[in-house]
Amino acid sequence: MKLQVASKKDFPTGLMLPWEQSLKDWDVKSLVTISHGLSRNIVRFASYRDVVYAIKETSERLALREYALLRQLEDMGLPVVQAVSVVTERASLPNASPAVTERGLLVTRYLDRSLPLRSLITSGASNEQAQNLMDAVAELLVRLHLAGFYWGDCSLSNTLFRLDAGLYAAYLVDAETGEIHDTLSPGQRRLDLDIAAENLGGELLDLDAGFGLPEGVDPIETALSVEARYQALWDEIAHDEIFAPDEQYRIDARIRRLNQLGYDVDELEIETLADGQLRVHADVVEAGYHRRLVKSLTGLEVQENQARRLLNDMYSFRAWQTGVQGQDIPETTSAFRWFAEIYRPTLDAIPDEYRGKLDDAEIFHQLLEHRWYMSEQEGREVSLDEVIPAYVDAVLAGLPEPELTTNPLAVSVDL
Ligand SMILES: Nc1ncnc2c1ncn2[C@@H]1O[C@H](COP(=O)(O)OP(=O)(O)OP(=O)(O)O)[C@@H](O)[C@H]1O
Ligand SMILES: [Mg+2]
Repeated sequence: MKLQVASKKDFPTGLMLPWEQSLKDWDVKSLVTISHGLSRNIVRFASYRDVVYAIKETSERLALREYALLRQLEDMGLPVVQAVSVVTERASLPNASPAVTERGLLVTRYLDRSLPLRSLITSGASNEQAQNLMDAVAELLVRLHLAGFYWGDCSLSNTLFRLDAGLYAAYLVDAETGEIHDTLSPGQRRLDLDIAAENLGGELLDLDAGFGLPEGVDPIETALSVEARYQALWDEIAHDEIFAPDEQYRIDARIRRLNQLGYDVDELEIETLADGQLRVHADVVEAGYHRRLVKSLTGLEVQENQARRLLNDMYSFRAWQTGVQGQDIPETTSAFRWFAEIYRPTLDAIPDEYRGKLDDAEIFHQLLEHRWYMSEQEGREVSLDEVIPAYVDAVLAGLPEPELTTNPLAVSVDL
């Protein structure tokens, strides 16, 4: 057997799985039940030392290909599941089943607190949430396309969603059909969008027939709307701007707007046109501007919208500190104090039994929302100390436990 691992420190060597058997026949304690999207291949989940892994059985060729693609996408900072290892040549193991010949296994890290769309819809999503999910799919496609990735099979089953400051963010889970190019042509992007519309339309029709969609959500219209959402975002990011030489401030405005959308500008190409006007093309690199800023200021790893939220809180903390001390405090010093004096103690005040129900950054975001709501109601500025118990009782205590439950001999289920 041959086993390739992406990172030495993150390899589940202790997993001791029966690699010589077909994945469908595995009967081991570490398997856990998790709801997941529909798939042609068998996918099962195993837990080891508090980390859960998704294991997919497919042909060796496709497993190797997908492993390599996922690693490249992750290196580019894109929102994809993390490839952990790929297992091939299983037929060489003692007592190997003939069924494993040329069948590879792709091991990815389970994307924590992620949900497939099916689970979101069947657990009662609202129309507004359904629209947000389509925005998330469109944004994921824009990000992949900007990086030169042609997906070839964008679908709801190949996408996972995670809460990101009250909104859903989409992650790619299945890269099997993808291709990485330097850049994508308009034709390649068009084709990817057509495939997405067709897949999404079929899946939403199916969900509508099986469970019903949220009130007011038309399956076909909703699937087709992804293209318009994509186009609006793409145009905003990729359009060239033309302006007079004395309007250079508009370059700054453009860069600020791109940063606001979460994108960094790698390079600006400025061309002087025949009539003396300037054409500016911004070379945009991967999203994650706020996420990276939070990481550099505090070391926290959060998602993009969560990062915006944390930065706003950090900035108001800094303004308050400046007011109190009557002097300017450097951003890095203030961020560190915000982390040590506000963020960490606030989360530490959440009772342990509830702390795992959401990401830390999501809890912090919800606390800020709750503070706003309580302050509005009471007509005064309510402090975080007062908000914590009220929020825990009103919101956190009522949330379901995270889905993962270790269940010996469990088989994974399709929802
Ligand atoms: N790392 C992971 N984290 C969370 N869920 C995962 C992970 N890997 C797979 N899944 C779940 O398993 C499902 C099936 O995985 P995947 O799409 O890779 O299988 P597939 O057989 O290649 O699908 P297809 O039929 O589209 O070819 C996904 O929809 C997702 O819900
Ligand atoms: Mg799939």
